Amino acid sequence: MAADLMDGKAIAEAIRAELKSEVDSLRERGVVPGLGVILVGDNPASCSYVTAKERACESIGIYSDDNRLPADTSEADLLKRVEAMNQDPQIDGILVQLPLPKHMDESKILLAIDPAKDVDGFHPMNVGKMMIGEETFFPCTPHGVVQMLMRSGVETSGKHVVVVGRSNIVGKPVANMLLQKKAGANATVTLCHTGTEDLAGFTQQADILIVASGWPNTVTESMVKPGAVVVDVGVNRVEDATKKSGYRLVGDVDFEGVSRVASKLTPVPGGVGPMTITMLLYNTVESAKARLMEEG
Ligand code: GUN
Repeated sequence: MAADLMDGKAIAEAIRAELKSEVDSLRERGVVPGLGVILVGDNPASCSYVTAKERACESIGIYSDDNRLPADTSEADLLKRVEAMNQDPQIDGILVQLPLPKHMDESKILLAIDPAKDVDGFHPMNVGKMMIGEETFFPCTPHGVVQMLMRSGVETSGKHVVVVGRSNIVGKPVANMLLQKKAGANATVTLCHTGTEDLAGFTQQADILIVASGWPNTVTESMVKPGAVVVDVGVNRVEDATKKSGYRLVGDVDFEGVSRVASKLTPVPGGVGPMTITMLLYNTVESAKARLMEEG
């Protein structure tokens, strides 16, 4: 039995269509949602993410203020840019692409972003609000995973979710979101990481398995319970001489093997990726709606 694919691209398109009509009505009322984007340096993966984010903004009518800064930008200069965006009334959301160059203190930069404009959901205040179940900006990738499960009709309440990977961007927040007592969550959550002994022993117990380890083939066929739902958050470049670019993208899951046992599975690319950017647009629109409410 082959797994059904959870089509992140199609789900993302449906959400973007909903957001576009919200942007249209905000614009009619004089509010153009604005996203400030800062990229420091020229990491190729970061450059392509940032370009995709800017294009997505444009496609639904969000204004994006793009700032591509050289790798040797000082921390003080970056902080000044963030502060200027904090003060700019046209900017509803601020995104500083991570990772930052080594000479910068990432947590200091994230702390400088106005929590009301923190559309990445990385500010410690928003992380804390998420953890205690308050309304806030949710980080985009975990939010995209939760939305994809909901819109694919996957019940999470009472189910055993196993997350592989404990990053601040994906693993920790997705585990946190899914254990909250609310619709689209209420799961029993196990968080596995590089210190976990007998990873397969845990993954085999998962009704829903979310893999964000950062390594290809972290999860293979024998590690998955038959009928489980598997979400692959990974994006890895592997060499492929048959491609013009010399590489192809794969996730953290052995797609072919796992598709033989899972009931539902996300492809890479075309699974979680398009959802991430869509939730960034969602957060920016939410922030612009809050501005309209404040302006009256
Ligand atoms: N780097 C990898 N993922 C993300 C993300 O969601 N937001 C930002 N700002 N940087 C990232």
